[in-house]
Amino acid sequence: MTARGGSGNRWRMRQDRDPYVDEALRRGFRSRAVFKLEQIQKRERILRRGMVCIDLGASPGSWSQFAARAVGEGGAVLAVDLLPMDPVADVSFVQGDFTQPETVAELAALLGGRRADLVMSDMAPNMSGNRTIDQPRCMELAEAASEFAEHVLGGGGSFLVKLFQGAGLDAYVRDLEGRFGKVRRIKPRASRAQSREIYLLARDYGM
Ligand SMILES: C[S@@+](CC[C@H](N)C(=O)[O-])C[C@H]1O[C@@H](n2cnc3c(N)ncnc32)[C@H](O)[C@@H]1O
Repeated sequence: MTARGGSGNRWRMRQDRDPYVDEALRRGFRSRAVFKLEQIQKRERILRRGMVCIDLGASPGSWSQFAARAVGEGGAVLAVDLLPMDPVADVSFVQGDFTQPETVAELAALLGGRRADLVMSDMAPNMSGNRTIDQPRCMELAEAASEFAEHVLGGGGSFLVKLFQGAGLDAYVRDLEGRFGKVRRIKPRASRAQSREIYLLARDYGM
């Protein structure tokens, strides 16, 4: 068995016995990732009716599905991803790299002069498996996401971002603390315990 086949089989076995995978299917969500957002929402109430929310790295779409339900008809969800995404009811989607000016321009056009209440990023770069290469790439993506968030958020807005524990994380937290009123580290139960993944929730932008 090749190393690749081995890790693929381990992934398949983990998916097969993961209760979140079944639960996502049963509730019509496209990915188990939805439960991380749902658990954060239960604790922090970051999504409310009428909000304008931007979902960075949205495909296949479970966070967008969840956000659209939470903000309701009076709200708006704008989603962006490098990859295509099957349409999600009440979500406007832009395919592209959110760090590219043309993608930002498309998102700005959809915003139509409104400020966002919440920017959320579940993005991750393609991982090589080599931590010394992957960690700086993750941090770079997170830096770009916070810059983008500051560009579109209104005063008092929130920013939720996925990160990986390792070099650069503490400095990143300190930086956000200078711009947002409150910053909290969150490890939702649905995030695998063995994964270095964590989420940062920064609230009260500019306060
Ligand atoms: C873990 S998935 C997101 C899953 C999603 N939250 C859900 O619930 O379905 C991360 C996504 O980030 C996207 N991504 C990574 N870098 C990006 C970039 N620079 N611009 C846009 N999307 C990006 C990837 O294409 C990938 O689809």
